Amino acid sequence: MNSHTRPRMILDCDPGVDDAIAIITAARWADLVGITTVAGNVSGAQTCANAMRLRTLLGLDIPIHRGADGPMAGDLEDASHVHGADGLAGVDLPEADGEPDSADAVEYLVETTRAEEGLHLVPIGPLTNIALALRADPGLAHRVASITLMGGGAGSGNVTAAAEFNIYVDPEAADIVFRSGGPVHMIGLNLTNQVRMGPDHATTCREMGTPVGDFATHLLDHLIDIHFQWEGSDTSAMHDPSAILTVTHPHLIRSEPRTVVVELDGTHTRGQTLVDERGPAAGEPSCRVGYGVDVDSAVDLIMTAIREA
Ligand code: BDR
Ligand code: CA
Repeated sequence: MNSHTRPRMILDCDPGVDDAIAIITAARWADLVGITTVAGNVSGAQTCANAMRLRTLLGLDIPIHRGADGPMAGDLEDASHVHGADGLAGVDLPEADGEPDSADAVEYLVETTRAEEGLHLVPIGPLTNIALALRADPGLAHRVASITLMGGGAGSGNVTAAAEFNIYVDPEAADIVFRSGGPVHMIGLNLTNQVRMGPDHATTCREMGTPVGDFATHLLDHLIDIHFQWEGSDTSAMHDPSAILTVTHPHLIRSEPRTVVVELDGTHTRGQTLVDERGPAAGEPSCRVGYGVDVDSAVDLIMTAIREA
């Protein structure tokens, strides 16, 4: 794939161990226009610092704009117990140099999508920045090629039985995004849990003998450990990279039009993405939902991105 056929993408993220692998994947396969950061896996300051550390590691020449420090309602419930206090599993990576390009991700999202229509927005953290941008400028929903998000799913959650982390952290934001009328594509747990990497991939990364290979080894070892503690599995799901590949390699993903609503009030279900599977009785679909994925090809593309970084 040459640079002319790479889809142009703004990545909204909360790095985050699998966000970091997603950034490596996007750097290889997408034409990355810019990165916006949001509080989620760790604080807003830390996710922004991590994005900047990754920009340096990967030698990327793109702007990074810091966004929301917490959800639209309530306090941030982070996932530092999963990603480590620094969000990158305590990796030995130089601290971020300098400042982000701005502390106004929302303005960047609005202005950049005004200057260029047809960009893909790929949120792989809580949807706070995207919702605030849609609230500031609802027309944004119709200027983008897609809002391809990692979050939710058609099935059970991972924070609660009902809710996936990115939606659970800011359900009000997710509600705005799903009701925006834009080309929303939900890549949720039912899909991302299929895309898995294990110890053999970590070994291959180690054998690359490169800074990015070493970095990826550290991240994969950490994720594999965590998944082993949770579910006795020796492989880890590649949540966020799956959203990137949905945009860069859409033929690998099978998705269907569905109506999806976000549960805001449920006693046990706040943050659930309720997918209406009734067919025509569900009425006009509000988005696409990812169901199937060519797992081997997806994992190969992630490994190639690490190798060629
Ligand atoms: C999502 O939650 C976060 O912890 C990950 O980075 C991913 O975006 C998976 O539920
Ligand atoms: Ca994430």
